[in-house]
Amino acid sequence: MSRTIRFNAFDMNCVGHQSPGLWAHPRDRSWQYKDLEYWQDLARTLERGIFDGIFIADVVGYYDVYKGSNWHALQQAAQIPVNDPLQLAAPIALATEHLGIGITASTSFEHPYTFARRLSTADHHTKGRVGWNIVTSYLESGAKNLGQEGLKRHDNRYEVAAEYVEVLYKLFEGSWEDGAVLRDRDRRIFTDPAKVHEIGHRGRHFTVPGYHLCEPSPQRTPVLYQAGASGPGKAFAAAHAECVFVAAPLKPMLKAYVADIRAQAQAAGRSARDVLIYNLTTVIVAETDDAAQKKFEEYQSYASYDGALVH
Ligand SMILES: Cc1cc2nc3c(=O)[nH]c(=O)nc-3n(C[C@H](O)[C@H](O)[C@H](O)COP(=O)(O)O)c2cc1C
Repeated sequence: MSRTIRFNAFDMNCVGHQSPGLWAHPRDRSWQYKDLEYWQDLARTLERGIFDGIFIADVVGYYDVYKGSNWHALQQAAQIPVNDPLQLAAPIALATEHLGIGITASTSFEHPYTFARRLSTADHHTKGRVGWNIVTSYLESGAKNLGQEGLKRHDNRYEVAAEYVEVLYKLFEGSWEDGAVLRDRDRRIFTDPAKVHEIGHRGRHFTVPGYHLCEPSPQRTPVLYQAGASGPGKAFAAAHAECVFVAAPLKPMLKAYVADIRAQAQAAGRSARDVLIYNLTTVIVAETDDAAQKKFEEYQSYASYDGALVH
């Protein structure tokens, strides 16, 4: 049976992302990450190359474990400096017609009420092309700079994430009915208040009694991505994710992961094929294998080992 293969570019609003040291290569352009034209150019190239989406990773915080400080991360631009990913959605949408735009945001560092508004706004601006990569975050430095004592325990982070998405579902799906916005000039009624509802959420981690601030966006709930690898992470992905990222270096590992996610999705009452799975792969393109190998070796000569160890 033939199946569609899907391609999703993986990048980050920073220098280098997963290739520390390559910023020094003469053809590197990732230092232009601060320019919208750079992102629009990349997005147009991906759309021409029939990619389904561009996906922007993110961390809040910095890597300061290697050699006990942030020195090497800064020196080698290992995911710092890093800009806000969500702000790329609208300009990428303006430069393209159908490319999906996946944005990473953490359930540990922002209240779901304000994040729901930011995501709905992006869904309006992209006319329904935005996705959310749900992460629970792993950088202690992020938690500390937000005034927390440190990161919550791993499993507890997924418990918080489960309630976080529950709040978002309620805001996106349950607050504004279809047809609530009338824009009726004759009767002078913009919104029919009877069709806008408080969500009344009182949970263990969040209290959100009221209304969503945005009128329904094209998708209401944007496409959900996730990349859980642990037991709780995979259970979360099986329950919520429409696209799952995995970084499996070998085929048997990938096969086992895929079988597990599909089985868990089915156990959660979904169809196994509801979940699209993207494996992380680096491809070096050239006219011949030899030329690709040479290119690879040339790129490798720019690699920063300190930068890599920072990750
Ligand atoms: C391809 C891929 C992309 C990821 N992107 C991010 C990211 O942008 N930000 C982040 O904090 N974590 C990211 N992660 C980490 C995952 O969210 C997750 O925490 C990790 O896979 C470990 O799984 P666990 O949370 O179940 O332990 C990524 C993981 C993979 C495999």
